[in-house]
This record gives sequence, C-alpha cells and structure tokens, in this order.
Amino acid sequence: MSRTELPKKLEAEIRLRVFDEKEFLKITQVSRRGGGSFKVSLRPVVVKGERHFQGEMTEDGRTQVKNFSLQAAENGLSEMLSQTGARDLHLITASGDLHVRVTKKGKVLESRSAEMARVIDAQPAHDRVKQQPLTSFDSAALLRVLGIASADGKIKASKRGKYDQVNEFLRVLESTTANKPEKTLNIVDCGCGKAYLTFAAYFYMTLVHGFEVRICGIDRRADVIASARRTAVDLDVSNHVVFIQGELESSEPEFSADLMMSLHACDTATDEALARGMEWKCRYLLCAPCCQHELHKGLKASNEMRAVLRHGILRERLADLLTDTLRAQILRILGFRVNIIEFVSSEATSRNIMLKAEFCVKPGQSGAISDYLELRDYWQVSPWLETRMSALIDKYLKRY
Ligand SMILES: C[S@@+](CC[C@H](N)C(=O)[O-])C[C@H]1O[C@@H](n2cnc3c(N)ncnc32)[C@H](O)[C@@H]1O
Repeated sequence: MSRTELPKKLEAEIRLRVFDEKEFLKITQVSRRGGGSFKVSLRPVVVKGERHFQGEMTEDGRTQVKNFSLQAAENGLSEMLSQTGARDLHLITASGDLHVRVTKKGKVLESRSAEMARVIDAQPAHDRVKQQPLTSFDSAALLRVLGIASADGKIKASKRGKYDQVNEFLRVLESTTANKPEKTLNIVDCGCGKAYLTFAAYFYMTLVHGFEVRICGIDRRADVIASARRTAVDLDVSNHVVFIQGELESSEPEFSADLMMSLHACDTATDEALARGMEWKCRYLLCAPCCQHELHKGLKASNEMRAVLRHGILRERLADLLTDTLRAQILRILGFRVNIIEFVSSEATSRNIMLKAEFCVKPGQSGAISDYLELRDYWQVSPWLETRMSALIDKYLKRY
C-alpha cells in the first residue's frame, strides 16, 4: 500500500454507501495540487425519469459538469478514490457524514458524525413541484457554471435581474411551443452575449419539456463567444449548443430554425434579428428589444404632438412605443400573429417589452397594411425594418 492510499475496508464502505445506500446525497473530495486545489464531487440526479449521477470537477475556478450512468459513476468513484496526495473527502448520506483526511505524510484520519435521520426531499430535484422554470429542474450546476449562483448555490445579488429575465423568458418560450406537434426544437439566439438564456433554454426545454433541442447562439463579440463555447464544453452539451462569432446579418446556423429569440440585442440589432428570423423561415419569433435610438431623432413634431416631443424623456418613450408598434405591424403584414407583452416585471429590467410572433396568417392583410401606413405616414418616419425587409414587403405596401 502506497503511503497515501485509502485502506481497502474504508474504500469498500464508501462504495457501498454511495451506490447501495438509498439515501446517499453527495461525496466530495478536495485535493491540493501545486498551489491550487482540485475539487470533485458526485451526487445522484434523475434525468428523464432515470437515476444518474452528476459529477462536478472544479480546478482553477473552472467547473465542469457531466451526468454519468451507474457504470460510468462507478469508474468515476474508483478514479476519485485512487487519487494520491493530501486530500479531504466528505461523504454525506441521510444517515450521517463521513470525513476522511489524508495528510501530507500519508496518515489517514477518519471521523464519523453521530447517526442521523436527515429528512431528504422524497422527490428528486427534477421532479419537484414547479415554482419557476429554473427551479423546476436540477439547475444548481448550470447556474453555478454560468456565474448566476455562487458556490453555495445562492443567486448572486448582481445577477438577480438576469435570473428573473431568463426565468420569465423561459415561461414565454414554454407557452409559445406548447402546441408544437414535433418534439424537436431548433433555436437561434441572436445577440446571445454570455449565453445565459441560450443554456437555460437548452436545459429547460430538454429536461422539463422533453424536446430534442439544438440551439445556436450568435454574437459579434469574440470574447463572449469563446467563453460560451467553454461553458458548452464544461456543461457537456457542446454537441447541441453551438455558437457563431459574427454579425447577425451574415451568420447562418447549421440547422433549419424553428424559433428565433433575442434578449436585449442593441438598437437595430433587434430589427436585424427579426429580419433574420423571417429569412430563416422561423415559425416563432421572441424578441425583447433593448435601447432603440432609431426613431428618436427622426420624430417630427406635428402641431398636435409638439407638447409631448418637447420633453426628452417623453420623446424617448414615444419613440420606443412607435418603434415597437411599427415592428409589430411589419410582422403582421408579413404573415405573423403578434402579441406585445411585458414579459418580466419592470424591477427586473425597464426593457421589459417583448414581441411574440407566430407565422400563421396569410401575408398581405389589408387591415395590417393600412394601419401600418397610416401610422408611418402620420409620423413621417422610415422604419429600419421596412427598408431591411423591402424585398418582401414592398409589393404589399405598393398596393396602397
Ligand atoms: C445587451 S447584450 C445582451 C446579451 C444577452 N442576450 C443577454 O441578455 O444577456 C447584446 C449583445 O448583442 C450583440 N450584438 C449587437 N449587435 C449585434 C450584431 N449586429 N451582430 C451580432 N451581435 C450583435 C452584442 O455584442 C451583445 O453581446
């Protein structure tokens, strides 16, 4: 026996408690390497109704997560137990804790808690009663890897707004696709940034709604795309969650998309996202616009509206309202049924409007065209999206 190996009897006890004790909760081992530490843990999870084990490895601040079958988990535990060097191991089950410390000199110190009867949730995490989309499945590792939750699982105060936005966006995603006949879903996330929504949507629609999901995030920033790709590897989903670094106007997902979503793509990037969604022939478009400067300067004060436009803040709000109204009208002309909703409370973000559209109407409806033209001409504006979609929309507008 090498100086830092665990006694066989102790190893056997650990294996037995991990795989045969019904109320095994978690095993964690922290070993010191060079100046840093390496932490590895294993806990039971239920994925699509089957018992699996989730492994988590953290080194140099980077956490990787992977779900294992029983066989793979047995191998993983053997690897964990065969590590050498100074380390601390902590096994938690409902009946009590076992601590093992291996010192630098190879001394193995064991300590056991008194016999306990911890009350554990009879429902595995995946089956818990739904409260919020991100609590309706076992999202602890996802939220930690994304940096939304801290190491102890608490939502960071600085990320609370994003957490709420993502949860509410997921609710809309869920209701939008509720009647989709096929259980496949190909999503493009335009202006994905750090991809909080991208990953949350993948796991939620896969684990909770049983869709086979492929998702592609697009962003022009190289740094956020590099980090999102690393996250996909760390969460072991890089076959299904992919990223393109590039401009929305020239990026092409590798699949035919059903749904385009966009959370706070800046200014006319929202229009570009809508345009791309239509060009990709997506049935569903979910778009929460961000800052919009396009119409702000262009609004000309007719006599009746001069008093409103005199005030900067009112001019800005009016420009926002008009921009989204004109966007919605353009989508209606092009065959979409459109709802404009407040998808999240204004405390989570003041940018809480969402355009929710489904392609299900015959394009070129005369009411949609006349409403659009009257509004556009009253304000004497040239919406960016109309120019962008001229190849499709001009034929309808010219009729009037
Ligand atoms: C405000 S961030 C939102 C990120 C993410 N959706 C979120 O809610 O956390 C907007 C992102 O859109 C990206 N973006 C803006 N215009 C773009 C364009 N034309 N092509 C690609 N990415 C764009 C920016 O680089 C930025 O990462």
